[in-house]
Amino acid sequence: MIVTVTPNPSLDRTYEVPALDRGEVVRATGERVDPGGKGVNVSRAVAAAGRRTVAVLPLGGAPGALVADLLAAQGIEVAPVPIAGATRSNIALAEADGVLTKINAPGPELSAAERELLLEAVRSQSPGADWIACCGSLPRGLAPSWYAELTARAHAAGARIALDTSGPALLRALRERPDVVKPNAGELAGAVGRPLATVGDAVKAAEELRELGARAVLASLGADGQILVTGEGTWFGEARVDAVRSNVGAGDASLAGFLAAGGAGPGALASAVAHGAAAVRLPGSVMPAPDDLEPSAVTVTAQVPADRALREPAP
Ligand SMILES: Nc1ncnc2c1ncn2[C@@H]1O[C@H](COP(=O)(O)OP(=O)(O)OP(=O)(O)O)[C@@H](O)[C@H]1O
Ligand SMILES: [Mg+2]
Repeated sequence: MIVTVTPNPSLDRTYEVPALDRGEVVRATGERVDPGGKGVNVSRAVAAAGRRTVAVLPLGGAPGALVADLLAAQGIEVAPVPIAGATRSNIALAEADGVLTKINAPGPELSAAERELLLEAVRSQSPGADWIACCGSLPRGLAPSWYAELTARAHAAGARIALDTSGPALLRALRERPDVVKPNAGELAGAVGRPLATVGDAVKAAEELRELGARAVLASLGADGQILVTGEGTWFGEARVDAVRSNVGAGDASLAGFLAAGGAGPGALASAVAHGAAAVRLPGSVMPAPDDLEPSAVTVTAQVPADRALREPAP
């Protein structure tokens, strides 16, 4: 069973518009609402992979109730933490030419009591959890040390932590030795404070995160594939993708694939890459099901191509 934690979930409303015209009334030709949040995506992908998952998330107001209903309709088990504020609504404007403009709301501020209730909800889901995946940014009211606190408590209870966040929340949590962290190239570059131009640069940066406390680093490098750096070894994985439709949520699908395949070693990396590649072949943030995976298009090797220049370097 894989528990996910999404401290700042959202109700994602996507409008299809012919073209964006600033200052004008733009008429949408289509509209959809989805439950949003990185941990929510991981839960959707884990469920699609046929594994049990529970999504822990603070929910409030009418948007929060709708998020709970939408997740229930998709068969995702939710452990909601009721909050006084309203869950945020994020807006995406999808133009006919494929350009996507997103407006993300800051979300509600959590009180001290709600902060504690959220930790308690994670604790009560921990027995029987193979992994606790903590995903995304922190809402107002949660200090940058919140994931560190969660990691320390989870470890004391014998659970393993996968962490996908960035900035101070990531750096602060490293000291508590999360079992795996999943930065993308930009987040990895930000964490070490220098740009990444080659696969070797990414490996060095991942090794630095291990020195800072991460037990393993699964770094996703967009079109350039993924690396897994652990105490047992370093591996590089990539997959051929003929037509990229949407990379939104590809990192979340990757983390789900990694954890669903055990969360360690080259086999789990291959699953992460297969899920990432499948996610980019699917529209929007649709998470892949087993039928969408093409394992034969995935290669994983311990011979890391360190000198290979990144097609998508991180500034
Ligand atoms: N253009 C692409 N071509 C092929 N594979 C891709 C492409 N973009 C992403 N992928 C696959 O998906 C994985 C995750 O993508 P990426 O590194 O962009 O994640 P991310 O930035 O964390 O995404 P998100 O946070 O939106 O889920 C990549 O490592 C790769 O396996
Ligand atoms: Mg990501």
